[in-house]
Amino acid sequence: MYRSHFVADLYTFAPGTVVTVAGWVHTVRDHGGLLFIDLRDRSGRIQCVIDAQQNPVMEAMAKTLRDEWVISIHGILTSRPEGTVNSEMAGGHLEIRVSSLRVLNSSLTPPFPVDATGEVSETLRLSHRYLDIRSSHLMEALRFRSELTSLIRNYMNDHHFWEIETPLLTRSTPEGARDFLVPSRLERGSFYALPQSPQLFKQLLMVGGIERYFQVARCFRDEDLRADRQPEFTQVDIEASFLTRDQFLGIIEGLFCEIFKTFKETTLSRPFMRLTHAEAMEKYGSDKPDLRFGLPIVDISAIAQNTSFAVFTQTLGNGGTVRGLRFPGGAERSRKEIEDLTTWTQAQGARGLAWIKVEPQGLSSPILKFIPEPLQREIAETMSAEPGDLLLFIADTLPQTLKILGLLRNHVARMAGLIDPSKISLLWVIDFPLLEWNPDDKRFEAVHHPFTAPHPDDMAILADTPELTRSLAYDLVYNGTEVGGGSIRNHEIELQRRVFDLIGMTEEEAIRRFGFLLEALSYGAPPHGGMAIGLDRLAMLLLGRESIRDVMAFPKTQKGSCLLTQAPAPVEPAQLKELGIRLA
Ligand code: AMO
Ligand code: AMP
Repeated sequence: MYRSHFVADLYTFAPGTVVTVAGWVHTVRDHGGLLFIDLRDRSGRIQCVIDAQQNPVMEAMAKTLRDEWVISIHGILTSRPEGTVNSEMAGGHLEIRVSSLRVLNSSLTPPFPVDATGEVSETLRLSHRYLDIRSSHLMEALRFRSELTSLIRNYMNDHHFWEIETPLLTRSTPEGARDFLVPSRLERGSFYALPQSPQLFKQLLMVGGIERYFQVARCFRDEDLRADRQPEFTQVDIEASFLTRDQFLGIIEGLFCEIFKTFKETTLSRPFMRLTHAEAMEKYGSDKPDLRFGLPIVDISAIAQNTSFAVFTQTLGNGGTVRGLRFPGGAERSRKEIEDLTTWTQAQGARGLAWIKVEPQGLSSPILKFIPEPLQREIAETMSAEPGDLLLFIADTLPQTLKILGLLRNHVARMAGLIDPSKISLLWVIDFPLLEWNPDDKRFEAVHHPFTAPHPDDMAILADTPELTRSLAYDLVYNGTEVGGGSIRNHEIELQRRVFDLIGMTEEEAIRRFGFLLEALSYGAPPHGGMAIGLDRLAMLLLGRESIRDVMAFPKTQKGSCLLTQAPAPVEPAQLKELGIRLA
């Protein structure tokens, strides 16, 4: 037998227990006479002691051990002698007095120590990911993910959702990113697309009468990567029939209540806060606002109108807007820091950044000379300015102003230290616009996807002002990140046809791309809707990690490559030939 217990199980055992443990040599320390081995398994570490006098042969053998060798130790669990207890370490009050030691395998010297405290480049860690996985930070993340997935599965099963797999070799799904294509050998010149999500299949399952479906589904999107995006990632994909939007959101809220109760010891109050997309944009300049701090955006156009500051008046004259937000404590920042903030804002696409310092002795700013005193006071009041604030203003078109201020709001909150990591901001953003104008293609695009239903209250304006039509799409936003999104769908074929038509899809194109869906809708499709939760993102946020790479076993780099296997890689000419592919 290699082991009787995981190491962490021993921490509560009484001294005197005879145990067998197996794992890796974390460290070996020779104290002349006593030799200490820290043995590590996936659960933790334990100190093992060999006494040279009592056991010279074993000591000689143990002296050859090196970091990361694989061993099995049999011995007696003992309390550490007084004065040698390590209260920093779990199990630091115990050690194993070794009675036999078996070497199961040796190891090369690892390119970085497991659990290195110093900086190790991510490139090195990714190219030896199996060693990095031995570290406590990844071990914790992978274990957490497993527990999270298991809780989700149990909850979904309890709520009568069936877990059903859908194909990976399929047709393109319109989630808005580029597809990864897979050439077909049997049908040369034809390609499968890896699914960007199981969207169409889950709707077909609803037509198939499954009523409640979920899947822990791999999705593939060929898009530019960021800290919260990977080319392949996991969704908890969900779809249900015969539920209103609010009933459906209620089921998801129940799931999140369980998740937060179990992993954050927090009771969330229900229903979750809901902001319409319009409110979120107007007040926070974002469709995924972080509400752990205030700092709402304030419209000062009506006041700015009467100043002689050309930047403001000209923008307003061109139909734009002037809005601002408070930077609490910002008045103490130096000229240089304010210049840097301006540069940062310009890098986000702003034309400039106007500011006013609110100091105990009064306001100060290079733009005050253009603003009569009563209006200065009015601006300060409208913005609920407090001494110490730096008031920041953007003058631009409405969408641009809101976008910049939304980004600035998060930036300023970080600079001012306003984000309390113990707070939780979890809310629904609802009533997204149905469509958005794409100026390059000169046509409307679906904001969520083209299967999303228009808001029933807006059916009357759908034909004349499609751009103002709201939809039944919703996003779940956790600490300023979109962790999930979905919608109620078009289950009536006529409505689905109309939406295809609005996004400029001809009848012929609709049939070519989605004929199977339209046909399915005509065979008694029930009312249905659903959403997908980004599992990697959710795990990242719950663990407070910076990147989704930190919660994935084998993530890809920013360039989409796997440093471990060197994928993507060229293939044999014979493979290409078989597929009928010639490289250009
Ligand atoms: P959507 O495209 O909003 O909706 O995706 C749902 C959730 O998946 C996560 N996500 C990602 N996570 C990591 N890397 C990525 N590249 C990535 N892209 C998306 C996000 C997002 O909220 N079929 C619809 C859902 C539906 O309508 O039911 C869909 O895929 O957390
Ligand atoms: P200027 O008249 O270009 O010298 O700008 C005067 C001040 O207004 C500077 O602090 C600029 O950063 C700021 N500013 C310029 N354009 C804008 C704008 N669109 N919105 C807000 N402030 C601006």
